[in-house]
Amino acid sequence: MEKMPFQPGMELEATMPASTTSAAAVTSTDWRVALPVLTGTNFQLREMRLDDAASLLAMLTTEEVSRFISPPPTTVEGFEKFIAWTHRERAAGNYVCFAVVPNGLDTAIGIFQVRTLEPGFGMAEWGFALGSPFWGTNLFADGARLVLDFAFNTVGVRRLEARAAVANARGNGALRKVGAVQEGVLRRSFLRNGVHHDQMLWSIFAEDWCQTSSKAVTH
Ligand SMILES: CC(C)(COP(=O)(O)OP(=O)(O)OC[C@H]1O[C@@H](n2cnc3c(N)ncnc32)[C@H](O)[C@@H]1OP(=O)(O)O)[C@@H](O)C(=O)NCCC(=O)NCCS
Repeated sequence: MEKMPFQPGMELEATMPASTTSAAAVTSTDWRVALPVLTGTNFQLREMRLDDAASLLAMLTTEEVSRFISPPPTTVEGFEKFIAWTHRERAAGNYVCFAVVPNGLDTAIGIFQVRTLEPGFGMAEWGFALGSPFWGTNLFADGARLVLDFAFNTVGVRRLEARAAVANARGNGALRKVGAVQEGVLRRSFLRNGVHHDQMLWSIFAEDWCQTSSKAVTH
């Protein structure tokens, strides 16, 4: 996660019109064409929209949210470019990014993303970030369950990795809570604010998730 969600180079690309990727217009079952809407108990996960940019800027650029993730964009325009990049990478079959939208709100307060680590998406990495007002609300665990089901059952991921800075107690706690297994420490592998952080490597396998998903997510 720490190399996600904000990929280098995305700012160089042109912005995609919002209307080309509206989740409401989805008729295809192919996630590369458009993501489905996944419904949680009190929120939805849906395709990112350009008008999510301002709320994502407000939610994901605070110190407590961004201190252990790659630096997020610093402007609405930067987030719009990131959102357009997520659409292009999804269409190319490399990546999916869900916007987290609580019931009663129109725009995203966080994201879940999954990117392929090899051709065909057999091995992938996921990451997530939510605005801090929504921490500890069960939104993470509920959303993670939907994303893990989607990754393993729809995308066809076999092994799903995550990286979290060892100092990121909340990020590591979140991964543990949804059944990820610790594999080891990647020493001094993540540079943030001039510090090379050790990262914990976590994994979940499709067969383990399918067997235990009903009890892996605690509420
Ligand atoms: C990661 C994130 C999405 C998790 O969402 P969340 O709502 O905070 O997660 P939850 O509260 O459901 O779960 C976090 C777990 O870590 C535990 N935790 C929190 N602080 C902790 C600490 N200081 N030490 C140990 N565990 C801690 C919590 O108790 C909780 O486990 P529990 O529900 O079993 O008690 C959110 O914290 C976030 O957006 N963080 C900033 C971005 C980020 O770091 N992303 C992850 C990169 S890998």
